Amino acid sequence: GRVAVLYGGDSAERDVSLKSGAAVFAALERSGIDVVGYDPSEGGLVGLEALAPDRVFIALHGRGGEDGSLQGALELLGIPYTGSGVLASALGMDKQRTKQIWRAVGLPTPEAVTLSDDAVWDDVVSRLGLPLIVKPVHEGSTLGISIVDNRDALEAAYREAARFDARVMAERYIRGEEYTVSLLGDRVLPAIRVEVPSGFYDYEAKYLSDDTRYHLPCGLEAAQEAALGELCRQAFESIGGEDWGRVDVMRDAEGRFWLIEVNTSPGMTDHSLVPQAAAHAGIGFDELVLRILATTLE
Ligand code: DAL
Ligand code: MG
Repeated sequence: GRVAVLYGGDSAERDVSLKSGAAVFAALERSGIDVVGYDPSEGGLVGLEALAPDRVFIALHGRGGEDGSLQGALELLGIPYTGSGVLASALGMDKQRTKQIWRAVGLPTPEAVTLSDDAVWDDVVSRLGLPLIVKPVHEGSTLGISIVDNRDALEAAYREAARFDARVMAERYIRGEEYTVSLLGDRVLPAIRVEVPSGFYDYEAKYLSDDTRYHLPCGLEAAQEAALGELCRQAFESIGGEDWGRVDVMRDAEGRFWLIEVNTSPGMTDHSLVPQAAAHAGIGFDELVLRILATTLE
């Protein structure tokens, strides 16, 4: 049957999604699948129904595509789709509620507080310490995020994050190494350590810079990498994640892992992490796309 690849959308991650979608589309086409690309921000759900897809591959990132709303619409339309369902998608897009669940089940995640116009900046600093990190609660690709290393910079960081989202949080900053673990069906793919010369894996480092280094194998001892993978599997499962996803983690100077966030519709661009991890596990890009698509039949 026909597969519609959904990409683009109108979130702040639109440009990333256009690239993910183009890569997924090309892979499906190479595999001889009857595939159409569709941007829901242009024709809405009515246009999607008119294409009469049998299945949907979601290559959207951020709000409107990764946050459960599209998933709910597809449920109502009766069209099977890739990836997590309504609840896990909504939770994964909400960095704070994700943390609340992790804490409730005893998984490690850095402390965070909500910021608002009447936040008492000194209280935030005394609670979380410096540096701290300010983030929009529902955003991806590091948009609107800043690391704050002195109290006077906190309010400006809050204002910047608030441009992206009505909810903003501050989180204790974990100094150390950054890892990401990709999950594909029942498999935990090899961890990647991301190293950025500037020290901050931001939008530039993710999509534009060629200086970002992806360590694969990640350099951890086997037992540690296994523990990291198991932590990420539990983290994904605890929010009800399904099919595929990616969990981002920091490792502090003492070697402890701290869960940062879940991505239920991770990037599939040529710089993206899940395709790199899959390739290292012997799963090429086209095969990866087919395996993700196959989860719609389960
Ligand atoms: N939010 C981006 C697309 C990612 O997690 O890969
Ligand atoms: Mg994210």
